[in-house]
Amino acid sequence: MNDDLKSLAERFAGQGVIRRILFHESVDSTNNVARELARADPASAGCVVLADQQTKGKGRSGRSWISPPGTGLWMSLILDTHTSPEKFYLINQICSLSIAQTVQYITPGVAELKWPNDVLVEKRKVAGVLLETLQVRDRWKIIAGIGINVNQTAFPDELQEVATSLRLISGQIHNRANVLEVFLHELSEVHSWSETELLRRWKDGCKLWGKEVKISRGSETFVARVLDLADDGGLKIERNLREEIIYAADVSLRL
Ligand code: BTN
Repeated sequence: MNDDLKSLAERFAGQGVIRRILFHESVDSTNNVARELARADPASAGCVVLADQQTKGKGRSGRSWISPPGTGLWMSLILDTHTSPEKFYLINQICSLSIAQTVQYITPGVAELKWPNDVLVEKRKVAGVLLETLQVRDRWKIIAGIGINVNQTAFPDELQEVATSLRLISGQIHNRANVLEVFLHELSEVHSWSETELLRRWKDGCKLWGKEVKISRGSETFVARVLDLADDGGLKIERNLREEIIYAADVSLRL
């Protein structure tokens, strides 16, 4: 079942920053396809590359992202930006908050944000964001890869305890085109907010503040207390009574 993803792509007339949806049955990674398009076509900003299936879906930190056909929303937004590179992290915040609001709308309950850009329900990940940047001539382009688990009923053994889907959360099958429409609506709203409003709402949706967490960074793993979101998008933590800011790391609530 393709839940009309293709027909949504064909009839989509644009909303907010998104102008077009380009649907593919199967690609290696929508981020790769979007990257090539961004490089080749100056008019590609505002396009969403959407696929029913990814054969080599990419997750953060070089992990793979399992993307079987008929189950999830696998897409990459191409964004042209006037923002300076220090502010690119805000795109993470915009995407993850828009996803969290979508999950909250479709399956009312408690969707939580987890730094840097995961969306969790009952401590299990339902969606993730993978941001990639590229410079085309003198302009920066951002590829915001978004994966939302919609109708999976099971995951590979190693993900069974940590992943979930909208179907597992609600017990119902969800139409992916419908979920995508909700997401695009939320994205256009969140994208219109000021930076102050965005960060206030993001911090409100993130439940890590004050909690002890396990942090994995490269080959080291340690326990620390989460203090705040740093001004540059890093995570401010307290470790051995000292404050530090971490980047490129994984945070786990399971100690
Ligand atoms: C993460 O590890 O949390 C990020 C996962 C991002 C997955 C999405 S699926 C669509 C896009 N294409 C990819 O290859 N990855 C992203």
